[in-house]
Amino acid sequence: MAAMTTSAGSPHGAPDAPRPFLNRRLAEFGTTIFAEMSALAASTGAINLGQGFPDEDGPEEVREAAVRALRDGRGNQYPPGPGVPELRHAIAAHQRRYGLAVDPDTEVLVTAGATEAIAASLLALLEPGDEVIALEPYYDSYAACIAMAGGRRVPVQLRPEDGAYRLDLDELRDAVTPRTRLLLLNTPHNPTGTVLTRDELTEIARLAVDRNLLVITDEVYEHLVYDAEHLPLAAFPGMRERTVTISSSGKTFAFTGWKVGWVTAPPALVAAVRSAKQYLTYVSAGPLQYAVAEALALPESYYEDLRAELRAKRDLLCTGLAEAGFGVYRPAGTYFVTTDIRPLTGGDTADGFAFCRELPERCQVVAIPNAVFYDDRAAGAPFVRFAFCKRTEVLQEAVARLKGLAAA
Ligand SMILES: Cc1ncc(COP(=O)(O)O)c(C=O)c1O
Repeated sequence: MAAMTTSAGSPHGAPDAPRPFLNRRLAEFGTTIFAEMSALAASTGAINLGQGFPDEDGPEEVREAAVRALRDGRGNQYPPGPGVPELRHAIAAHQRRYGLAVDPDTEVLVTAGATEAIAASLLALLEPGDEVIALEPYYDSYAACIAMAGGRRVPVQLRPEDGAYRLDLDELRDAVTPRTRLLLLNTPHNPTGTVLTRDELTEIARLAVDRNLLVITDEVYEHLVYDAEHLPLAAFPGMRERTVTISSSGKTFAFTGWKVGWVTAPPALVAAVRSAKQYLTYVSAGPLQYAVAEALALPESYYEDLRAELRAKRDLLCTGLAEAGFGVYRPAGTYFVTTDIRPLTGGDTADGFAFCRELPERCQVVAIPNAVFYDDRAAGAPFVRFAFCKRTEVLQEAVARLKGLAAA
């Protein structure tokens, strides 16, 4: 397909250089590594620990709630633009667990997953040329959405130290310029598993207030925190009025295919994001919105069990990876563990791309090279991400296969 291009032709009859279909803003985002690696998993029969989706569906009663809504004809036609009232109220009730009082009518917007919430927020809030500071490595849609909005991304790296990835607050402060419009944060953080601490969030809030910045905070892993506490940035002093908080039912309830996400923010910010969202999807997933409203009303024990289950899976995979010879950055949250492949490749330089492309052949496991989450590809080169949101027996089998690596 790469050869298929259009040519407008020059006024003098000579053909112009062929013009690619994909525009300049998106040229660097042509294909994702996830598609390549998932295809590799399928063709080699490898265990796919690349993409972050569970291999078991979420609670049966939530699935049944979706079936009931479909049968009862709730949401089968366009639901209200901001989301069905039942879900908006459930989201507002959920935010109260953090002491955040959110008006379900004016401060909640239901979106097609967190992905649309991120896209709509950036499209709504950025003027071309605005700078957006994002923590690097970053979830891959951030860079593409900043580009679609005409913004300029300014990465600030989380750096590995003492077995975890940490933010350098001075570096963050230094990255702010008069052109900075917003901070795009993600905690718990994909792919590193870092959960920003109270002290870090306090400093980030201070910076945002001092420099009058907007903040988009992606908190889709808010319930997947194992050794720390999730603290929403919106709850910090001065942040409520400048923060767009994004979350999603996908990870929390293990229905990543439903794509029901949401934004909570003050009315003027929600109205701005809604202006963009209404021309992206207008509305989505009507019956599933009712089911997610019921999911959000599950007892606290649901979240506790989810955390306990995923903590055990994290420990299983981290221990197995360490025994297989990887350097392991034990995540405090999320579905993911980042590893250093240098102990296995026996050198200071290592190419995570090449390693991941060979891994299915070498031991029938698929992982993702962290370099795809970096502008600074060299900084991410020696690191590889594995997902542990899979059945225990699948993780056990993956670990057994990976242990063969050192011998291979
Ligand atoms: C950090 C982060 N944000 C957003 C998303 C997308 O969420 P959704 O599936 O609700 O669009 C993901 C999915 O992997 C993610 O890791």
